[in-house]
Amino acid sequence: MIVCLCRAVREHDVARAIAEGASTVRALGERTGAGTDCGACACELRSALTARGLVSVPQDDAPCSGSRPMVTGVAAK
Ligand code: FES
Repeated sequence: MIVCLCRAVREHDVARAIAEGASTVRALGERTGAGTDCGACACELRSALTARGLVSVPQDDAPCSGSRPMVTGVAAK
């Protein structure tokens, strides 16, 4: 299943990034590109983290359904 349409990031890509140490929405963006364009997938990314017992840090607390990128300053892959 696609989590991030803008960057064509799949659920298993997010799961792999988390397994490899990504523990914030920003880290997921850095590793996968998810959340670095429109930001519409932010809630999905946050849910993937919380489902694994990880919590968002304050800088990740941007609105889930914003129209701006959730993760800024990250080069797209
Ligand atoms: S759907 Fe993920 S950045 Fe647009």
